[in-house]
Amino acid sequence: MLTFALPTGRSLDDCIEILEGAGLPVNKLKNAGRNLVIEDGSFRYLLSKPSDVPAMVHYGAADLAIAGSDVINESGISLIEFFDTGRGRCVMAIAGPQSIAEKFNDNVCGLMGLKVATKYVNVAEKTFASWGVQIKILKLNGSVELAPALGLSDCIFDIVQTGGTLRANGLIVIKETEPVSLRLVAGAGAVQLRWHSMFGVVNSIENYVKGTVGK
Ligand code: PRP
Repeated sequence: MLTFALPTGRSLDDCIEILEGAGLPVNKLKNAGRNLVIEDGSFRYLLSKPSDVPAMVHYGAADLAIAGSDVINESGISLIEFFDTGRGRCVMAIAGPQSIAEKFNDNVCGLMGLKVATKYVNVAEKTFASWGVQIKILKLNGSVELAPALGLSDCIFDIVQTGGTLRANGLIVIKETEPVSLRLVAGAGAVQLRWHSMFGVVNSIENYVKGTVGK
């Protein structure tokens, strides 16, 4: 039995599409309801909060996972990344009201002490630090776009996909910092111990994903 950790939420449909395309059984996964552990044929799927998926493979609860590069980077967990699936494409970006966007045009000194609301505390700190800027972080677990409107932060650091959430909340992209997508990953231990039972599945998924590039 091979165990996959998969993110719940908007990425799950992309994951199902990839697994189905690679020939894995997904009927039960498509009808998971509130179940978080689904067994189908010789596969078990764990449905996890996206930010917890890297930990699921790191601690050995799952052999393989499809995880966003955003949450992998934020976790700081070192995983074996087989390939980029090309799904779930979005960007990490700093966003805020127009008035703050203007600060980014000037010298970086003007950004010192900027209040930044984010779910991605580690990546945000690293990103601003790489420009020599120290920021104040407000850690939120979701609906980050609320923070500037409420005066809790100057800007946000978050993923942007369609831009719809920003527009709906009167915010604009100030600076895109990094592309994000779903990656096929595993923990180093699982790869060492279970590669013989994993490699066929990893190859099938890679072949499927490569075959869909540009389609
Ligand atoms: C993510 C992200 C943004 C939104 C961006 O939130 O944090 O809020 O999606 O997507 P868009 O550009 O297509 O509008 P998610 O929907 O995962 O919910 P959350 O705010 O509860 O984290």
